[in-house]
Amino acid sequence: MTVQSAGNPPAAVRDSKTPAESQVMLKHIMSEHDTNLYGTIHGGVVMKLIDDTAAASAGRHADGPAVTVSVNRMTFLAPVRAGDLLSAEATLERAGRTSMDVAVRVTAERWNFSGPVTEVATARLTFVAIDAEGRPRSVPALV
Ligand SMILES: CC(C)(COP(=O)(O)OP(=O)(O)OC[C@H]1O[C@@H](n2cnc3c(N)ncnc32)[C@H](O)[C@@H]1OP(=O)(O)O)[C@@H](O)C(=O)NCCC(=O)NCCS
Repeated sequence: MTVQSAGNPPAAVRDSKTPAESQVMLKHIMSEHDTNLYGTIHGGVVMKLIDDTAAASAGRHADGPAVTVSVNRMTFLAPVRAGDLLSAEATLERAGRTSMDVAVRVTAERWNFSGPVTEVATARLTFVAIDAEGRPRSVPALV
């Protein structure tokens, strides 16, 4: 996914930022339209939520658009079902010259909101900040 921060020109990039400044949480209730043949939620639906959340975090850090260049790790820990409320939390773990590594943790509150919050997936992705021509652009250091 690509994220463009509203109206922020790439030239406004700061020298450094903390992980807290780019932390993002997205929440989404799973629909019965998202299920696979086994009646659980399709992994691709969870992966899209992860990519969206990580892209928002990378875009915040970069003060502009950032594209997914690599999914380095993707682990599904427990099944997700229709009606579950998923929360994906993205944290920037590394900033290079133009690239950023983002870790994402996904938890589920079950549809009847009983029982413990369950960790259902974790992932680590790499994004690259790009300029208006789609070329890599430098990002703030991570402090
Ligand atoms: C991302 C993209 C702009 C990088 O262009 P590029 O010419 O390969 O850039 P460079 O070789 O100069 O590398 C730029 C940075 O990306 C990193 N990078 C490149 N390929 C990578 C990969 N497969 N995995 C991890 N990092 C990678 C480099 O290490 C470098 O990091 P640094 O600047 O922090 O040291 C280009 O590959 C691209 O447009 N890819 C398609 C992105 C896309 O469509 N994503 C899906 C939809 S969002």
